[in-house]
Amino acid sequence: MKVTVFGSGYVGLVTGACLAEVGNEVLCMDVDSHKIEMLQQGRIPIYEPGLEQMVERNAREGRLRFTNDPAEAVDHGLFQFIAVGTPPDEDGSADLQYVLAVARTIAEHMDGYRVVVDKSTVPVGTADRVREAIESRLRQADREVDFDVVSNPEFLKEGAALEDFMKPDRIVIGTDNPRTTELVRALYAPFNRNHDRMVVMDIRSAELTKYAANAMLATKISFMNELSNLAERLGADIERVRHGIGSDSRIGYSFIYPGCGYGGSCFPKDVSALERTAREVGYEAQLLSAVEAVNARQKQVLFRKIRRHFGEGLEGKVFALWGLAFKPNTDDMREAPSRVLMEALWQAGARVRAYDPEAMGECRRIYGERADLVYCDHQEETLQGADALMVVTEWQLFRSPDFDKIKQALSQPVIFDGLNIYDPDLLRRSGFSYYAIGRGD
Ligand SMILES: NC(=O)c1ccc[n+]([C@@H]2O[C@H](COP(=O)([O-])OP(=O)(O)OC[C@H]3O[C@@H](n4cnc5c(N)ncnc54)[C@H](O)[C@@H]3O)[C@@H](O)[C@H]2O)c1
Repeated sequence: MKVTVFGSGYVGLVTGACLAEVGNEVLCMDVDSHKIEMLQQGRIPIYEPGLEQMVERNAREGRLRFTNDPAEAVDHGLFQFIAVGTPPDEDGSADLQYVLAVARTIAEHMDGYRVVVDKSTVPVGTADRVREAIESRLRQADREVDFDVVSNPEFLKEGAALEDFMKPDRIVIGTDNPRTTELVRALYAPFNRNHDRMVVMDIRSAELTKYAANAMLATKISFMNELSNLAERLGADIERVRHGIGSDSRIGYSFIYPGCGYGGSCFPKDVSALERTAREVGYEAQLLSAVEAVNARQKQVLFRKIRRHFGEGLEGKVFALWGLAFKPNTDDMREAPSRVLMEALWQAGARVRAYDPEAMGECRRIYGERADLVYCDHQEETLQGADALMVVTEWQLFRSPDFDKIKQALSQPVIFDGLNIYDPDLLRRSGFSYYAIGRGD
């Protein structure tokens, strides 16, 4: 089948590569010509395990191509996927300008039936707006061309995106007619062989399903963070509590890790957009507001512990930072807890020596060269001359470091663990001052 994907970011590129991998002819379109040039030269603008090889293979075999020519893009695919960004607007609602721009582009160039598939995360009612945008452009040009709009929200996780796309838990399709349901079903058949993963519903429910999933996961995280703050004040250990509740199958172990707040390109903006949508229909989503407020406060928790340990005099202090990405196996630093922490330390006059296995380039792009940030090539290099170590991204290689070396390198043996990955007893016995989340320090 012929597929066009608008937007070659995390979602668009993964969608394009995976659809090509099963034999489709895919053309990825992006307005960012630098990105398209890189992709045409076989270079991948983001880090996602396995993606580079999959893109390279499919490009070599001619099933995956890249363009910034809108006419060529619309001409190519029966399916026109929209996978552009939907960043938060100033008021927290989802900014639909990129989605609607793609809709108008499709309308301008299409000369035959197209299935417009909305993969971006968009508020309920957006499919109607996409349809109206296309119809209005066609009317202005006095043209009549048949098309359908489908909602197909994406649930992939950065860091495991290929696996999630190739073996999805579910494929949610929102349609309003049987013809498009059958076409989309055929496109997804290769990902649906083991058992039926298609969940077909009306368009509005499909749009809401994506927000419901992210809001539920964010709620679990904020709930545990709330409990961790309580545990700390009550002399309990949140890690024991986590095991105690996770063993209940109604609760489960997933997504109940306390930490220093959720980040990334999805949870923060999606919770805020859903809360905004609720307000627009006259409903105050109190739980969602609380989830956001708890998260914002949690991103300050490590800094507050640092203040408590060192007092007000942070001026001139040096902090080693392990982890910049908002989670492991990605270079994405959007809304990352590391950013809030670094910015608070800089504000207080401290300096940071940072290392992340994949996000150094992204960090440089965001912060550039500055005197209070040293980009280190190795995790141990961060420790040189540092007064304390902070760990905020759960990369595997941070899990079992050489604590003797850390102790020797630091000017004071202090660790702030924003992920609860170390053993408090072991570290305290080894002479460290150890601060974690919800563990009674
Ligand atoms: N990143 C994730 O883990 C994830 C997971 C599920 C859903 N989503 C959703 O998918 C959507 C895309 O997210 P992302 O992380 O891939 O975004 P991204 O910012 O990585 O990529 C978006 C791309 O769209 C391009 N673009 C903008 N306007 C365009 C246009 N008119 N035509 C063609 N390309 C255009 C941009 O240049 C950019 O390359 C968002 O709605 C997001 O909420 C993201």
